[in-house]
Amino acid sequence: MEGAWIIFVMISIMILSVQGQLKTGFYSSSCPKAEAIVRSTVESYFKRDPTIAAGLLRLHFHDCFVQGCDGSVLITGPSAERNALPNLGLRGFEVIEDAKSQLESSCPGVVSCADILALAARDSVDLSNGPSWSVPTGRRDGRVSLSSQASNLPSPLDSITTQKQKFAAKGLDDHDLVTLVGAHTIGQTHCQFIRYRLYNFTTTGNSDPTINQSFLLQLQTLCPKDGDGTKPVALDKDSQTDFDVSFFKNVRDGNGVLESDQRLWDDADTRDVVQKYAGNIRGLLGLRFNFNFPKAMIKMSSIEVKTGTDGEIRKVCSKIN
Ligand code: HEM
Ligand SMILES: *[C@@H]1O[C@H](CO)[C@@H](O)[C@H](O)[C@H]1NC(C)=O
Ligand SMILES: *[C@@H]1O[C@H](CO)[C@@H](O)[C@H](O)[C@H]1NC(C)=O
Repeated sequence: MEGAWIIFVMISIMILSVQGQLKTGFYSSSCPKAEAIVRSTVESYFKRDPTIAAGLLRLHFHDCFVQGCDGSVLITGPSAERNALPNLGLRGFEVIEDAKSQLESSCPGVVSCADILALAARDSVDLSNGPSWSVPTGRRDGRVSLSSQASNLPSPLDSITTQKQKFAAKGLDDHDLVTLVGAHTIGQTHCQFIRYRLYNFTTTGNSDPTINQSFLLQLQTLCPKDGDGTKPVALDKDSQTDFDVSFFKNVRDGNGVLESDQRLWDDADTRDVVQKYAGNIRGLLGLRFNFNFPKAMIKMSSIEVKTGTDGEIRKVCSKIN
């Protein structure tokens, strides 16, 4: 039953997958092994450290929201995107660079860093027991990377209105917002980004009243008032490396970790979507998220892409040619 569903989902997605000028299998004749090389690279890092999957998924999101999905997040240099505050915690750059150097030996100058990011994000979700999908490819790498433009990225302090606006500015609706933030079913944050919720959230110096009381005690134990701010905290308290629907159950139960995650429950539209994904008919609703997440990812992966003769194919992902 589940197998049949997955096949159905994959076929529907293949049909839907021609997005703009991207197409699935863009490299099938120019570099037939491209997708397999990315996959085996992600797999080898994942075997050593399964949490790398979350890093790679987030990397692609941060790439797409600034200058479009064009690999601009990978560029190094004093004024590059990578140095902007919201990007300081990004990880997985070495995986992309490793895949790139293998691709350069197999098919020099053919596969863009932007496409490697999109493929690695897909493979990361798949390896974390999430859904898989065909990734439309053919992105070209950008030549601009400016830390000043990173203000497009959402902040964990953003209200639900601001979150909606920032996604709408990229052509993503409220449903896409909730679906994509479901990515927080894997990965981690750090005490420094949530401590204010635990001790000094309100003007009277109390914790965020929307935090579930028993979870509040757990978080306070994990992140003491004057403790180490760099200590990691799972974004999904129940299953940090499993791509499942428990993130939505957490939001429903007041167990969201980031303030922005918990705010998805404040608003009637986003609450409705959280509710649907979190619902209690376990298997079926899990599949609903598994069906919608790939669709939303394909949409996000198409933001302001450069194709055809725009941009370039970088030789090294951290440097403009
Ligand atoms: C309103 C939107 C969003 C906000 C405010 C937000 C914010 C954050 C923050 C603050 C962290 C923790 C960073 C750290 O402690 O170093 C994080 C981690 C993460 N985010 Fe988001 N995010 C949003 C949407 C998304 C989307 C759309 C995706 C992907 C589709 C995503 C994927 C991830 C992943 C996988 C992690 C864990 C990274 C790791 O373990 O290294 N996020 N996010
Ligand atoms: C709590 O936050 C306020 C500002 O929001 C700040 O003035 C005050 O010093 C903080 N108190 C503690 C104990 O950190
Ligand atoms: C608090 O979280 C637990 C699960 O950890 C849940 O069973 C309970 O319903 C939550 N309480 C509220 C008020 O949502």
